[in-house]
Amino acid sequence: MTRSRRYELLDTREINRETFVEPWPEAGLIVAESPLDPRPSLRMEGGQVVELDGRPRAQFDAIDSFIADHALDLAVAEEAMATPDLHIARMLVDINVPRQAVLRLAAGCTPAKLCAIMAHLSVLEMMQGLAKMRVRRAPANQAHVTNRREHPALLAADAAEAGLRGFAEVETTVGVARFAPLNALAILVGTQTGRGGVLTQCSVEESLGLRLAMLGLTTYAETLSVYGTEGAFVDGDDTPWSKAFLASAYASRGVKVRFTSGTGSEALMAHAEGCSMLYLEARCLCVTRGAGSQGVQNGSISCIALPEALPGGVRAVLAENLLASMLGLEVASGNDALASHSAIRKSAKLMLQFIPGTDLIFSGYSAVPKADNLFGGGNFDAEDHDDYSVLQRDMQIDGGTRPVSEEEALATRREAARAIQAVYAELGLPPISDAEVEAAVVAHASTDMPSRDVVADLAAADAFLASEQTVLAVVAALRRRGFERIAANILELGRQRVAGDYLQPAAIFDRDFRVRSGINDPNDYAGPGTGYRLTGARWEELQRIRTARSPRDFIAPQIGAPSPRLIELGPARRGSQTEVILAVGPAFGRELTRTIGGLEHDDVLAAILTGVAEEGLTARLVRVRHSSDCAEIGHTGARLSGSGVAVGLQSRGTTIIHRRDLPRLSNLELFPQSPSLTLESYRQIGRNAARYAKGERPTPVPVQVDNWARLRLIVKTALLHRRETEQVRDEPPVELGFDWEPDV
Ligand code: 5AD
Ligand code: CA
Repeated sequence: MTRSRRYELLDTREINRETFVEPWPEAGLIVAESPLDPRPSLRMEGGQVVELDGRPRAQFDAIDSFIADHALDLAVAEEAMATPDLHIARMLVDINVPRQAVLRLAAGCTPAKLCAIMAHLSVLEMMQGLAKMRVRRAPANQAHVTNRREHPALLAADAAEAGLRGFAEVETTVGVARFAPLNALAILVGTQTGRGGVLTQCSVEESLGLRLAMLGLTTYAETLSVYGTEGAFVDGDDTPWSKAFLASAYASRGVKVRFTSGTGSEALMAHAEGCSMLYLEARCLCVTRGAGSQGVQNGSISCIALPEALPGGVRAVLAENLLASMLGLEVASGNDALASHSAIRKSAKLMLQFIPGTDLIFSGYSAVPKADNLFGGGNFDAEDHDDYSVLQRDMQIDGGTRPVSEEEALATRREAARAIQAVYAELGLPPISDAEVEAAVVAHASTDMPSRDVVADLAAADAFLASEQTVLAVVAALRRRGFERIAANILELGRQRVAGDYLQPAAIFDRDFRVRSGINDPNDYAGPGTGYRLTGARWEELQRIRTARSPRDFIAPQIGAPSPRLIELGPARRGSQTEVILAVGPAFGRELTRTIGGLEHDDVLAAILTGVAEEGLTARLVRVRHSSDCAEIGHTGARLSGSGVAVGLQSRGTTIIHRRDLPRLSNLELFPQSPSLTLESYRQIGRNAARYAKGERPTPVPVQVDNWARLRLIVKTALLHRRETEQVRDEPPVELGFDWEPDV
């Protein structure tokens, strides 16, 4: 086949590195509405469910039984199932229907019914639904902090920066499982340096996870995985009941619990039973609710690339987030694992959660570079921090983070790295050297870190766990070394565990260590003028990205001392010789002294006059005062010119060659891209003007076109034009003298 150059290029694009596959329902490779999905149904007898989604009780599997007996609110189930799917879909979108009304009915819907409701909704309608159904009033965000070397000082420094950046929760995990207690310790110390009240977790095997939490090294647990088929559960060695038991174990020790589920896991584990991903996820969510978990981490999570390989995958992932929120669950809505090569695609996907806002928009924004993320990469990472800040600023959306200056980042990183160094020294763990601390302060990635004796660290981790030392030993160690503030924050976290307020639905701590939850700060969105709005001090903070400049800074380089060589002689007269008029704008050489490209006005004048002189003509200089418009400046000059030809020059450097008989908005040559004009181009402009004046037809002056110039310079252009326009007076042009010797 002959190849199209266009298609050859398209082949190299990031999007074409993705895997796309056609649906295959029998294998569970279908995101929604599989032909094998059951139809919604519910039959009750004597207060008991006897049929669920087409299956009689005698044929229930473990999940059906759990849902029938523990998940469904039987007081509303019959009413909910009798309400048309379309009606409930419309309730989700209708701002006049309160969140509570949807919650009430959704609690009585079977998994197939929940899917039938989703089938009516576009992504836009789902986003509207999510904005209403989110549990907590204000959205928040969760970060991942891990590194390939499992370096404690780097973990602490990155966790501190994540805390400072505003992440409400920070999650770590391990490359080597035995590192778990030390990694949990490092991010605990780190986060509480960056901001008191950041919740932390260490994602490991569940009994170890529980032990770490009971020692006070972590404050939440999130990876209590549930699955939508019995087969997948059995392979995971679990049942809905064992998960419910584990959740109670955590909660009874004051540890916040969130389950994990998400589309794709069952197909990945070869146990989809021909059902769609969304239907199986609806079952997971009912199980999660039935097990008493306050929330869920979903949105496919580690399996995200699988639904994204299928048609409608990104929509289905939004649908699962929405279903979770309809069941009253706090949602940490995915966007964590690497899901796309394409920056366009990953940003587009993010918008579905970012715009409506979820309780935690990412279930792990990689606060470290992708390569250091042990959770499967990180769809957004530390290199995207500024992009993310700009998205929040662009849309006036609170995405749960804040911009942080380099100085602030360095300071908190240093404090955290020193604090973990002190804790290691006090607890007799393998020492962290000053050089390691300093490396962690400035490091981008773990490759910037000196390596440690891994065997010694692992032995210390084992001994630390065996010693049964709790978080109180950490608090005491920090106190002894003078890290009072960090010690106080960690102690307060411990105190809060006893109080248990952060076990409320969707609870996080705000910057003042106050619980913000679905109980004391519930989402009250009900259309325009209601719900959380990014305003006031928080909006101010999100506007101040580190690259935003004061408008004054933009034009300062264009303002120098007024030129002593340029003097006003009196009213400009109309000439009669074969001359060129050089007409400048009202601010030229005075309020502004350099072009946007940084050329001195004096040098620009000299270059144009040289060009005119090279053609054997003379030029007169006039200042136009009644307009700052380039065409008007040029045309005014042309009307004064004996030859009828003039060069018009705005102070920012935009130039026109004009002739008296042309309409004002026409011209001989126009140079709208002043930043690319050099002194050589101005000289050629002078020459061409002179040649027009002599009645010749010169080749237009060649100009470079830079499509990025407008993008780069539009703010500066607007401000320079404003400064010039400020000088406009209702006064006739004046003749100018310019102290200059022709150099020919
Ligand atoms: N379903 C269930 N559990 C999941 N996890 C990630 N993705 C899913 C999913 N789609 C859980 C697993 C994994 C952890 C990071 O989160 O327990 O180990
Ligand atoms: Ca997570």
